[in-house]
Amino acid sequence: MEQTLAIIKPDAVERNLVGEILGRAEEAGLRIAALKMVRLSKEGAQGFYYVHKERPFFPSLTDFMSSGPIVVAVLQGEGAIQKWRDLMGATDPAKADEGTIRKAFGLNVEKNSVHGSDSPQSAAYEIAYFFSELEMVNK
Ligand code: CMP
Repeated sequence: MEQTLAIIKPDAVERNLVGEILGRAEEAGLRIAALKMVRLSKEGAQGFYYVHKERPFFPSLTDFMSSGPIVVAVLQGEGAIQKWRDLMGATDPAKADEGTIRKAFGLNVEKNSVHGSDSPQSAAYEIAYFFSELEMVNK
């Protein structure tokens, strides 16, 4: 079974959207294999997004991601990475399809409510960034 890392970003946690967003994952058949709420430090956000460290939006993105609590989850299922990306919609909410999470809740390209791994390699890195084996349910 494939696993992906999902994050409910500070803008969505702030607006009480945690249940709604996790509900969309569950309705689509994804299983929650691990779940917690954390607040990243600036350094923690920089480590998570290190692949973007040369991008112009990196300082602002890591400020935002450390600005308040986030909910991190491991979602599991057949084709979980693509399935969660399809549920999220395009990075920029203005370009996201109708019916997607970012279309419904995203405020702009930075405050876009959710994150999802983009490949098996990034999923492995991102899951291990937040969760130990002990925190994961594998069924
Ligand atoms: P995410 O899927 O979490 O991965 C990197 C994040 O950078 C992305 O979502 C956006 O929230 C954020 N970001 C901010 N500005 C941009 C931009 N111009 N292009 C792409 N991503 C951006």
